[in-house]
Amino acid sequence: PIPVIADVDTGVDDALALLFLASHPDIDLRAVTCVAGNASLPQVIANTLDVLDAASSRAAVAAGCDRPLIEPARDASGYHGANGIGNLVLPRAARRHDPSHAIEMIRRTIEGSAEPVTLLALAPMTNIALFLRLHPETAAKLERIVIMGGSAGPGNATPVAEFNVWHDPEAAQIVLESGVPTVLYPLDVFSRVVVDEQQHERLRAADTAVTQLATKLLDYQVQLADLPADIESGAKIGDAGTACFLVGAEHFGTSRHLVEVELAPGRSRGQTIIDRRLRPGEDMEHSLESRARPSDVALTVDGPAVSELFV
Ligand code: BDR
Ligand code: CA
Repeated sequence: PIPVIADVDTGVDDALALLFLASHPDIDLRAVTCVAGNASLPQVIANTLDVLDAASSRAAVAAGCDRPLIEPARDASGYHGANGIGNLVLPRAARRHDPSHAIEMIRRTIEGSAEPVTLLALAPMTNIALFLRLHPETAAKLERIVIMGGSAGPGNATPVAEFNVWHDPEAAQIVLESGVPTVLYPLDVFSRVVVDEQQHERLRAADTAVTQLATKLLDYQVQLADLPADIESGAKIGDAGTACFLVGAEHFGTSRHLVEVELAPGRSRGQTIIDRRLRPGEDMEHSLESRARPSDVALTVDGPAVSELFV
């Protein structure tokens, strides 16, 4: 199985991702680190522990940063409900989170692993940016960082910026220029993986603790009808699609591009500039001047194949 650390801001769709990561036989979820994003840090920690408990996962859980590097925290309770998980009330997990900081947990997990670890970033990248700056030698041992973030087209937090990047743009830029191999899973694919009614009913009928919780979380996703007209409506699996990428990359079209984050104040702050013009040999001046490193960007997806993998 692939050793994985997930960095989360649980979050309805982070919860769906955790259920998938905890259940898939080819994934070994070693640690889960929490950061402020969809909800406040204490709420994210509680949600994460409760969701892992529902999935009988013993993955270590650690608390990270309670705000972005520069700006104040701005939660997404309008979207994910006041408690971050669609106001579902889950049985309280008996265990508490680990006393060590998320950054130390990430370091220890990578150093303690015989195989290179994959870091799955499903939230604003504050914890990950600080880890990369504090422990570059350990970061060099990572297999890669797979990031839910950004957009080649419209945004969701603003007309042009996706929430995870918008919430901490400096952190996102630090991660993208770190030199650790990155995969970007932007809104272009994020919004296109939808569990259809028949799949939803199959989950409802399966009647295990994991499928029951997944069904309720998907019920919440169905009633969110805020999507642009050109994008599928229904039970979007969101961050869980990024988790599916770890074991189902063949269902995606990825290509390598320079990705930079707009850091200037103003209407476009937090936008990801994905340079799709670049071909080897072209525009070298720009790529030499830029601090950005190329990322493998998932721009197309076979949505039904990924939703089936998820179910
Ligand atoms: C991202 O922001 C959060 O609302 C979701 O959990 C996802 O990680 C989508 O922009
Ligand atoms: Ca998230």
